[in-house]
Amino acid sequence: MDDCGEDRKFAIVVSARSEPVGFTALYGLFRQTAPELGALIGDDVRGMGVGRRAEALTIARAFDEYGAHRVYGRIPAFNEAAKRVVTSLGWRHEGTLRGHLRRDSGVADCEVWGVLPEEFRAAAADLLP
Ligand SMILES: CC(C)(COP(=O)(O)OP(=O)(O)OC[C@H]1O[C@@H](n2cnc3c(N)ncnc32)[C@H](O)[C@@H]1OP(=O)(O)O)[C@@H](O)C(=O)NCCC(=O)NCCS
Repeated sequence: MDDCGEDRKFAIVVSARSEPVGFTALYGLFRQTAPELGALIGDDVRGMGVGRRAEALTIARAFDEYGAHRVYGRIPAFNEAAKRVVTSLGWRHEGTLRGHLRRDSGVADCEVWGVLPEEFRAAAADLLP
């Protein structure tokens, strides 16, 4: 959606809807450090495979178009949906930032997840052209 700076955001379009149903993002491209993946899927299309496919297409772009050597993400430990999606795309849990997230109910752990190109390609082969 915007082609300048170190971040890229992508609207997610599906054939049955006239409006985008969410977005993915890559934050911090073109640095020595790897970019971070972000994603948000609209409530009414969650659990239908949109997140997995959109994240796969975005990660493929990170490697193929932007030359990333790795992609990573910070995921709240309680976010099972986000962890299942990235696990299915070859990501690994690499560490935990204990009590990193401040929430109304207290604090929560934040997990660091990441993937290397070969791990991603093997896991996401069914979704890639
Ligand atoms: C995380 C998110 C992107 C997943 O997108 P989605 O389109 O709902 O996910 P998919 O339909 O592709 O499902 C992928 C997997 O997650 C599982 N899943 C989906 N919703 C789930 C839930 N609420 N709890 C547990 N697992 C869930 C699916 O069963 C599937 O697992 P499987 O392949 O093992 O069956 C979406 O829920 C979202 O936008 N959440 C809010 C923002 C967010 O958490 N972003 C991640 C940044 S940390």
